[in-house]
Amino acid sequence: MTYIITTPLYYVNDKPHLGSVYTTIICDSIAKYNRLKGEKVTFITGVDEHGLKIQRTAQSNGLSPSDHCDVISDIFYSNWNDWNISFDKFIRTSSKHHLSIVHEFYKKVRNSNDIYMGVQKGWYCVGCEEFKDNPDNSSTYQCPIHKKNLEWKNEENLFFRLSKYQKEIEELINNENFIEPKERRNEIRNFVSKGLKDFSISRTNLNWGISVPEEEGHTFYVWFDALLGYISAICLNESNQSIDGSINLGWPADVHLIGKDILRFHAVYWPAMLISAGIKPPKKIIGHGFLTREGMKMGKSIGNVLDPKLLLSKYGEDRVRWFLLKDIILGSDGDFQDKRFVDIVNNDLANTIGNLLNRTTSMSRKWFDNSVPTDINVKEKQFVELSQKTIDNYLKYFDTYSISQACNEILNFAIKINLYLNDEKPWVLIKNTNNNNQVKQIIYNVLESNRLIALLLKPILSDLSNNILAQLNQIEIENENWKDNLNWGILKPGVKLPKPIPIIEKLEYE
Ligand code: MSP
Repeated sequence: MTYIITTPLYYVNDKPHLGSVYTTIICDSIAKYNRLKGEKVTFITGVDEHGLKIQRTAQSNGLSPSDHCDVISDIFYSNWNDWNISFDKFIRTSSKHHLSIVHEFYKKVRNSNDIYMGVQKGWYCVGCEEFKDNPDNSSTYQCPIHKKNLEWKNEENLFFRLSKYQKEIEELINNENFIEPKERRNEIRNFVSKGLKDFSISRTNLNWGISVPEEEGHTFYVWFDALLGYISAICLNESNQSIDGSINLGWPADVHLIGKDILRFHAVYWPAMLISAGIKPPKKIIGHGFLTREGMKMGKSIGNVLDPKLLLSKYGEDRVRWFLLKDIILGSDGDFQDKRFVDIVNNDLANTIGNLLNRTTSMSRKWFDNSVPTDINVKEKQFVELSQKTIDNYLKYFDTYSISQACNEILNFAIKINLYLNDEKPWVLIKNTNNNNQVKQIIYNVLESNRLIALLLKPILSDLSNNILAQLNQIEIENENWKDNLNWGILKPGVKLPKPIPIIEKLEYE
């Protein structure tokens, strides 16, 4: 069994922004988590390169669409490497490989008698690459997302018989597990209950796209083409490069993680297209919220866009990941505030987690021969119980995509251990040699807690996790079974501890 998770395929009209980094970081953590659990994972990302929006962007940059796509796709690819994103497949929809899958798929849908020629009239948002439902004052109406006027279109297009799949789509979206969170599920149920309408899947007057076989002058609608990228990605560079190849390698996807604005395409159009072609729909769609900056929508014109490259060079991946994963509940909107960002990463990572480790390894080295204390009970009951509860909750949260809650589970554990250390005051107890055994026990308990914190952080903050394990001289644990090591009492008494170095520096608020 392969666990398949996907990000959206990002439009190459511009370089990555914080929104794309956000989605990709969430997917990365989920992919890493499942790998640590021992699953085989295929983590898919890539770029959506066709359509009017990209054609126009290339034109305005004085480049051919293909040259423009090469430039921006390279930026996306190297950006994910800079962020240490563990993707397995990176699909470009302008590749020959993808074209052959789109043609293969189209044949299947046509054989199901689900394609016909019709006339498409309506108001189109080029930014969304989507027809809008009869807005009032259409000619002056602006797309709420792109703040641009809609364009009138009236052309002969091929249509897909979406209406035929009303019953199947209703059944699918009635399954509580298919769309998350609940508010998003309700939005889609409401939309579907109004009755599904066929939608156009080809364009005339558009060169930059995949040509429709036997339909002179037609290229595929960019969404029809792009959604298939999820399937073409799986068999990319594999021996059987076909739809069957992807099915054999694990399709359907376990999760499509996307922003709330593109839910209809994923939860309605895409499953219907797949059912028509006799292919299973994805198992789950998660619609995450939107990020704003200091309470405002991020936009070039407002000048408040956060450049991920800058953010990465200034703060490093772990701090940004912690903020995005812990502070924003998956599914809700989130706000990036500079002050809040600095406060959270300083409090959680530097003070609560970093300091706990630093002061305990220092005490242990000073009092116990640069080592983890010996002659202790490695399984004190209250710690076995507390840690087991933390681990169980963390696993439960990660398995149900409640990443923020999983992060809080680690943090709350670290807070409790800090309180324990402060209450026990080993630095006072050590002054009397009669307390030696008690001090050893306290120090062991805190060091062992740090080891567990590092393991729990692993899919979320890999670097910080490794730094903690290195300070505990436990780096070899990485090559062992993560799940088995998620148990209290694995840290061996007597292990040498290296000289403490701060694992994460505090930030100053500018
Ligand atoms: N190309 C399509 C997806 C095709 S998938 C087969 C597309 N691309 S996009 O680049 O415009 O958007 C990619 C993702 O970024 C979407 O999931 C969208 O919701 C997300 N975001 C765009 N702005 C965002 C924020 N400000 N905050 C969070 N995510 C946001 O749509």
